[in-house]
Amino acid sequence: MPEPDRLPAADLPPGAVRRASDWAVGNDGGRLFAVSRRCRHQLADLSAGRIDADGCLVCPWHQSRYDVDTGAMVAGPRGFLGYHGPTPGYSGVVRLLGAVVPLRVRRALRRGDDVVVE
Ligand code: FES
Repeated sequence: MPEPDRLPAADLPPGAVRRASDWAVGNDGGRLFAVSRRCRHQLADLSAGRIDADGCLVCPWHQSRYDVDTGAMVAGPRGFLGYHGPTPGYSGVVRLLGAVVPLRVRRALRRGDDVVVE
């Protein structure tokens, strides 16, 4: 049986998002989560993202927002490629795709000195 993906709990203070293998692992005020790392828009690494005031994971490239409980994209991108700005129609289409094909979701648990992705 393979070892679970893990990271030191000390590296994941409240508000932080980190990488553990294929997972973006976050600590939303003590609530731990793990979702697959690649944004559904243009594959940015979500472990470089941030947690917003609503507890959503925000992509570092174009700020798509994800519900970390379901993995669904709840707000589409603000831009594409190197452009950053309003793209209302495009953003809505990408959001629909991100809702239909959500991120994978796993449980993240504190186990000893580590956070483990199950
Ligand atoms: S790559 Fe994530 S919003 Fe564009």
